[in-house]
Formats: sequence, C-alpha cells, structure tokens
Amino acid sequence: MIISSISDYREGARRRLPPFLFHYIDGGAYAEYTLGRNVSDLSRIELRQRILKNVAELSTETEVLGQKFAMPLALSPVGLTGMYARRGEVQAAKAAASRGIPFTLSTVSVCPIEEVQAASPAPIWFQLYVLKDRGFMKNALERAWAAGIRTLVFTVDMPVPGARYRDRHSGMSGPDAKLKQYWQAVTHPFWAWDVGLNGRPHDLGNISKYRGTPTKLEDYIGWLGANFDASISWQDLEWIREFWKGPMLIKGILDVEDARDAVRFGADGIIVSNHGGRQLDGVLSSARALPAIADAVKGDLTIVADSGLRSGLDVVRMLALGADLTMMGRAFIYALATAGEAGVANMLDLVKKEMQVAMALTGARSISEITRNSLVQSPS
Ligand code: FNR
Ligand code: LAC
Repeated sequence: MIISSISDYREGARRRLPPFLFHYIDGGAYAEYTLGRNVSDLSRIELRQRILKNVAELSTETEVLGQKFAMPLALSPVGLTGMYARRGEVQAAKAAASRGIPFTLSTVSVCPIEEVQAASPAPIWFQLYVLKDRGFMKNALERAWAAGIRTLVFTVDMPVPGARYRDRHSGMSGPDAKLKQYWQAVTHPFWAWDVGLNGRPHDLGNISKYRGTPTKLEDYIGWLGANFDASISWQDLEWIREFWKGPMLIKGILDVEDARDAVRFGADGIIVSNHGGRQLDGVLSSARALPAIADAVKGDLTIVADSGLRSGLDVVRMLALGADLTMMGRAFIYALATAGEAGVANMLDLVKKEMQVAMALTGARSISEITRNSLVQSPS
C-alpha cells in the first residue's frame, strides 16, 4: 500500500484492525458533527502566501514548559493503544522519542507506566483521569514520578463518557460484543497474530498494577462509566497541584472562562480540546474555540491545542490561531495500527515535511514567526 499522507494510514488501520477497534478510534459522539467540524473548520483557515523571504534555513524546533522539542507537536493520550499494535504504547513512545517529541501515556493504557518509560529513551508525559478511587490516582502519580515522568496532563472533559453510537454497532459494547469481537479477530489474522496472541496481557495495565488483579477489557466502555468521577471540581484539583511538583496541563478546555480559571488555579498549561469530538457533540471545534482563548490567556500559561489535526499544515494553522504546541491523537494511532513504531516515525516525518513547506510558503523561518499575521483573515 502506498503511504503519502495520514489519510493513507487511516485506510491502513481500517484494513488491519478488527472493526470494533477501528470504529472505537475513528468514531465520535452522537451524530459526529463536532468530529467533522474539527477537521473542516481547520481546513477553512487560510494562510497568507508570502514570497522571496529567503527560507533556505528553516527550523521547526521549539521550547515549551522548559523542554526542547524538534517540532511543536506531542502525541495525545489515547486509551487502549496497546490493542492497536503489539505493546502499542511502547512502540509509539519510542517513535516519538526518536523524532524528538513527547508521547503522552493514557491512564487507560494497556502497558503500565513502568513498562513504557523503561523502554523510552526520553521522558514521556502521563495523563491522569479523575477516577472515583482517589487511592488509584495518588498511586499512579507516585509511580509516574518514580519512573522519571515530570509532565502531567490532567484530563477534565470526561466526567461521564460521551455516547458513541458506532461502538454499539461495531461490537465494542453491548450484549453481543464478545461474539462479534471473537469473529472479527478470526477474520483479521495479522492483528490476531500481532496483538491478539503476541501483545498480551490485554488489560488496563496501570489499574491492574494498583489493584493487584488484571482489569480485563471485556466491558471497557462499561468500566469507564462505572469508575469515572462526575463529582470533580476545581477544589479537587488542589491536592494534585500540591502533590505533583512538575508541570501540570489541564486538558479539555473550550471556554474562555474555564481558561481564565485555569490561570487563577495556577496551571502551567491548558489543552484546548473537545476530546477529538468524542464527548459532547455540538460543542465548538478546537479551531473555533482557540482564538478567543488565546486572546484571553496567551502568555499567562502554555496553550496546547488538539482535535482535528491531520497534517503538518494543520499544526501551522493551530500555531497561527494562538497555540504554543499542538497534539494529535487519531493521526498517530492510524500509523501505529498500520505499521507499528516505524509507521509512527514515518508519520512524524511526513508532518514535519508538511510543516516545512507551509512555513516556507508563508515566509516563517522559525516557529515564533508563525503568528496571526500568517493568516489571511484574523479569527477574532
Ligand atoms: C482519546 N482521547 C483521550 N484523551 C485522554 O485524555 N485520555 C484518554 O485515554 C483518551 N483516549 C482516547 C481514545 C481514542 C481512541 C481517541 C481517538 C482519543 C482524546 C485524545 O487525547 C485527543 O484529545 C483527541 O484524539 C484529539 O483529536 P484527534 O487528533 O484524534 O482529532
Ligand atoms: C475515550 C476515552 C477513553 O475517548 O478517553 O474513549
């Protein structure tokens, strides 16, 4: 199969994965309007073509949160990454490190913190969810710190899981899930060999380690609903702030008021995100939400943006709209499912090349030269 863009990797993932996994990744909440708008709103952001700016020497390097990266991109935390390729979190973390950008490990990963950090030559980031069991949260933070992790992503846009219609149809959830998953595994032999047989154990590695018993994946969606805590509020974040001595980013902000609260709270950064259109359908796309948030808090903390990025061009667009750093979720997962670590590394090379072309043709020689002035129309 010829791979020239991230959409080719999507097709690769569609062919290789059992449908219950592909649709869990690819799908979003309800009718998937926001999922679509994340991509289409970004595609409508027009860049100013500039000429004769001597762009022979371009640098995509950047520094955020006191850390230096080869480009302003990090991999978003994605649950069950170890189900899309053999020990998938380890493979993706190694690819990210090899390309000089951070990998973020989800709370609900297959591989536990220790396994991933031990295999990664660079420090990874850790994403924490609000679970009813605060003992687990404390344990996860302690283990992350002990493993050498210093950057915490605290996700707050999932007090309850959004309804994803595709999951019920595909066999990800529902009473007939087990039978469907079994049949789909049998009919996808590459996956069955790579992950089904050789990628075990299949469980929520971080939670199993804490509880001392395997947390099986049979009713994963039900497990999320039963264990996530909807009672969380800003006060609850205080103890985490006290406890965690490294940089803390709050993920899932779409509103200016919440961004201001994050500054008041003392967060080091926010991640402007609608969870890739997987939570509330009908909320703003990140590209629409970002400009007003940047107007309100730029300079007060680090602004990261995700949801809908599918190319290096999209990275440049988000930077022009006001982000200091961007993240991608599905894009790297599609590459991981298609070709493992090498796929993610190649996908990051593609993104970098696309960024370089976009920078050359907008006359930006460095990341700091990508500004609102790079846009045809100012967004606000
Ligand atoms: C996610 N996302 C997510 N976020 C998080 O904080 N913890 C998690 O465990 C997960 N799990 C997860 C699973 C899958 C399959 C997807 C696609 C996404 C959201 C993720 O971090 C990110 O916000 C979005 O993926 C960004 O949108 P794009 O890049 O996928 O469009
Ligand atoms: C999801 C969760 C796990 O989006 O974040 O499926």
